[in-house]
Parts: sequence; C-alpha cells; structure tokens
Amino acid sequence: MKTLSVGLPGNEYDIVIGRGMLDGVGHMLRDLAGSGEPAAVVTDENVWRAHGEKFSASLSDAGVDFERVILPPGEANKSMSGLSGLYEAFSGMELSRRGLIVAFGGGVVGDLCGFAAATWKRGVGYAQVPTTLLAQVDSSVGGKTAINLAYGKNLAGAFYQPKLVAIDPDTLSTLPAREFRSGMAEVIKYGAIYSEGLFETLTGDAPSPRDLSDAIYECCSIKSGIVARDERDFGERMLLNFGHTLGHAIEKKSGFDRYRHGEAVAFGMILAAGIGERMGLSAPGTSDVLRKALEAYGLETEYPGETGDLIPILKSDKKSEGNGVRMVFLKCIGESFTRPVSFAEIQNALEAGSAE
Ligand SMILES: NC(=O)c1ccc[n+]([C@@H]2O[C@H](COP(=O)([O-])OP(=O)(O)OC[C@H]3O[C@@H](n4cnc5c(N)ncnc54)[C@H](O)[C@@H]3O)[C@@H](O)[C@H]2O)c1
Repeated sequence: MKTLSVGLPGNEYDIVIGRGMLDGVGHMLRDLAGSGEPAAVVTDENVWRAHGEKFSASLSDAGVDFERVILPPGEANKSMSGLSGLYEAFSGMELSRRGLIVAFGGGVVGDLCGFAAATWKRGVGYAQVPTTLLAQVDSSVGGKTAINLAYGKNLAGAFYQPKLVAIDPDTLSTLPAREFRSGMAEVIKYGAIYSEGLFETLTGDAPSPRDLSDAIYECCSIKSGIVARDERDFGERMLLNFGHTLGHAIEKKSGFDRYRHGEAVAFGMILAAGIGERMGLSAPGTSDVLRKALEAYGLETEYPGETGDLIPILKSDKKSEGNGVRMVFLKCIGESFTRPVSFAEIQNALEAGSAE
C-alpha cells in the first residue's frame, strides 16, 4: 500500500493506493467520522452490484454505522434532482456536520457527493473511494466538485477537498472495457504533459487493469503536486487540461452522449499536438508518438467530424478570452506549457492538418 499526502495548507489529506485495499477501507473511514455519527455511503447500482458486498463487510467489520444511497448509474444524476435526492436521504438519516459522506463510485458519484458534502449543513467531511480509472487518476483528487445545470456542464460547483482518497485498483477488474479505455486517455495525458518515464511505461506492453497500481500512483502524485501549488486553477493546474479545450468542444458538438470524456480528450490531445507542431511550438513527431500510445489502448485518434465546426464552440467557451483561448501544448512528450492562441491560428492549423 502506498500513501501520498496532498499538501494543501489547512486541508491536508492522504491518497492511499493499494490492491485489495477495499477489505481494510472500513478502518480508515471509521477514523474520519465523528464518534457515534453515521456515514452516508453514496454509490451507483453497477458499483454496488460488483463491489458492494465487500465494501459493506469492510465497514461492518470496522464497526462503522452507515446507510447506503444507491443511485442509478449515469451522468443524469449529477444534477439538481440528484443533489436534492441526496439532501433528502441525508435528512432522513439525520446526517450531522460531524458525520461523513463516502463517495463510492466513478466521477459522477464523486462530483455529486463532493458538492453535496460542500453544501450540506455548510460543509460535512467526505471521502472518495473511486472505482473507475478516470476517477482514480483524476476526478477524486483535487477537490473540484460540481453538478450540471440545464445551461451547461459543471456550472454549479465548489472547490472542496475530501478527507481521504482510498484507491483499490482491483475494483477496475469489473470496469467495462470502454470505461477503461476512456480512463487510459487521462493516464496517457499525465505522461504526455509531465512524465516521459510514465509515458514510456505505458507504451511498452500495455498493462492490464490489474497491473496499473504504479501508473495510478504516479498520476495521483503528479496531480496532487500540481493541486498543492495551484488549487484554484489559475496557473499550473491548467496543464491538466491538455486536450480538454478541443475535447470539450467535441463533447458539446456531439451532445455529450456520443463519446466518453476520455475518448473526446484523446481526439483533443491529437488535435492540440498537431496544432502545436504546425505552429512550431511542439517537437516534430510529437503527435505521432501520442497517437501510437492512444491507439495501443484502442482509442480512436482521428476525429471524424468537421474540425471547423469546433471553432464557434470554442468562441462560446467560458474559458475563451477575447479573440482566442489559452491552450496547453506539448514542448515534447513529458513537457508542457500554456499559451494564448487566437481562434484564427487554431482554425488555420486545423485546416492545414485536414489538408495533409
Ligand atoms: N472533479 C474533477 O476534477 C473531474 C475530472 C474529470 C472528470 N470529472 C467528471 O467525472 C464524470 C465522469 O466520471 P466516470 O468516467 O468515472 O463516469 P461514471 O461515474 O459515470 O462511471 C462510468 C460507468 O462505470 C460504472 N462503474 C464505475 N465503477 C465501476 C466498476 N468498478 N465496475 C463496474 N462498473 C463500474 C458506472 O456505474 C458507470 O456506468 C463526469 O461527470 C466528469 O465531469 C470530474
């Protein structure tokens, strides 16, 4: 078992990573809830079906008094109605400010629970026990919590750090292949922006879900370091958005249900790497190396839509500034930086890419 500490002053917490850890997680959670206080375990039907028995046994063995809230799976729960359903459940179990909320699931459960924890009685402690690869390497770490509103994704949210992130990579053994692939896009992203060493371990023999502990540890280590230096996303944390500017535009263009987040980010990374090369910002050949890594995990890398259609979406993005947007580029694999680019520069580079 390995432990990382997220060094946020006043909000320090541990990320504990270990195969088979679900068996002992009850003891870790027991120490976080106030004595005699119940814990609210929030999960979804798929996660509970696959791992609920083990998780309940672990909590019961540790003497944790808990109640479950089992949601249907899917992004639709990360909504006002999902949130009010949780408030109703917390009210029913008389969850006090000294109680604990446990998010046991993927990024949907994690983001929703984190926001509920930030707002229930003005803030109650919560722990993340992530079960998708995306959640284990990304969404459970860093304290970004949110729900979607009718006007857009993640529009109501808060920075609210958990008290613990407990990751058992063995839970990934039941993850559908498509969800695994989508998470791998984020793992490859960490290598691309920050660690050539990690990138190389991923491009050798592709690890199975069971062998990913070291890669998960390294991703969490990169993210926790960045979050400790820039919690509110004004500087270095933006590097984590590599591939996300165009990836989000692709998700929006396709109505958010055609591609999983990681699949859209994979397209976005390839497009950003291509733009970087054409603008002389990235080492020649960077996008080819990235493409091979993504394809090794079965991710598509050729966005089938019209890239020109993405420009109007970029223009309306909340992160656009004047006539352009700040994007993340790779100097080479393992090194990244942000730079403002105009929409005209993006359009020209995308058109040049389509013509090749
Ligand atoms: N907070 C952040 O920093 C951050 C970062 C990235 C993404 N996100 C958010 O994360 C969400 C996506 O998260 P996700 O990709 O984990 O999706 P998800 O939570 O919807 O999980 C994907 C699917 O896998 C199932 N599942 C989860 N764990 C399983 C397991 N171990 N075995 C079998 N099935 C399992 C779920 O039931 C679901 O059907 C989005 O809402 C996105 O906005 C947040």
